[in-house]
Amino acid sequence: MRYLVTGGAGFVGSHVVLALLDAGHDVVVLDNLSIGYREAVPAGVPFHKVDLLDYAATSAVLAQGTWDGVLHFAALSVVGDSMREPFHYLRQNYLTALNLVQSCVEHGVRKLVFSSTAALFGGPERPDPISETASVLPGSPYGESKFMIERVLHWADEIHGLRSACLRYFNAAGADHQGRAGEDHRPETHLIPLTIDAALGRRPALRLFGTDYPTRDGSCVRDYIHVTDIADAHVRVLDRIGDRSVTYNIGNGQGYSNLEVIQSVERVSGRKVPWEAAPRREGDPPHLVADSTLLRSETGWAPRFADIDSIVETALRWRESHPHGYGV
Ligand SMILES: NC(=O)c1ccc[n+]([C@@H]2O[C@H](COP(=O)([O-])OP(=O)(O)OC[C@H]3O[C@@H](n4cnc5c(N)ncnc54)[C@H](O)[C@@H]3O)[C@@H](O)[C@H]2O)c1
Repeated sequence: MRYLVTGGAGFVGSHVVLALLDAGHDVVVLDNLSIGYREAVPAGVPFHKVDLLDYAATSAVLAQGTWDGVLHFAALSVVGDSMREPFHYLRQNYLTALNLVQSCVEHGVRKLVFSSTAALFGGPERPDPISETASVLPGSPYGESKFMIERVLHWADEIHGLRSACLRYFNAAGADHQGRAGEDHRPETHLIPLTIDAALGRRPALRLFGTDYPTRDGSCVRDYIHVTDIADAHVRVLDRIGDRSVTYNIGNGQGYSNLEVIQSVERVSGRKVPWEAAPRREGDPPHLVADSTLLRSETGWAPRFADIDSIVETALRWRESHPHGYGV
């Protein structure tokens, strides 16, 4: 099969590219490198430096040959930035996806997999764990932009028969266990790499936002899902999308508190993590855990890196072997 991967130079996209190659597929990457790295795309994979805001350039890539599917990762995805620059986020994520989806329809693409997010579930009445039937009420312009794209895909299916899978990931983490790719966001906002960097003495003490939540140890609980398990879900879901579009939540199903992440990094690295308590961040829910029963039952998927230490271990190995990330 031949797949186009947008955002394939980014964290999740680069791991999905590896999984597709491992499964024997042909892959082409489109990325504007605004966030991702050319070095994250394996040698020999055709690469187009294109901004999805440019419809003509996007369409020109899709015009090159036939595609068995498109996987769309490219986006801006820092929730806090979207609260500061809501219109930029809404415009950027919506218009880039709209261009891509319209171009897919124009060129006869039949399948699209879209990176949606747990940030869709921002309302106060969140069930626990969160299944696909939970009410969507985004708590940020970032989450809202992703929901707008899910609606675009709904109409692309209704009117043009473009089948899609909306995969709502919880917290992607870890790194390729063969060391071929890892996480390098600048600035980094994700807890596991920040905690590892604090343990390695590469940054000052970790700030722990909120220690008085109604959770087992007072810190927030999140669902960390290994990026390779997310990648495996994409490969399985591509086989699954046939006569209908699907939506799946992707999470580990186990919640780990911020303090448990710190303890895991200390266990796995053998080093102390310097940290200090900071006030709660506005809008941070105490507990967010996925119910991925539907994905499991319909595709046979199950996380291979289910416990937090195995996730932290791969992330730690990559950060130790790439002290300056990609490209240095
Ligand atoms: N990382 C997570 O925990 C997480 C959780 C839920 C959902 N998601 C979603 O998964 C996707 C991938 O996340 P990630 O962490 O790999 O992000 P990332 O920032 O590492 O990768 C995004 C990639 O898209 C590219 N890109 C951005 N705007 C573009 C544009 N206009 N044209 C072409 N390329 C563009 C960037 O250069 C980058 O390589 C995103 O859509 C994100 O919203 C991520």
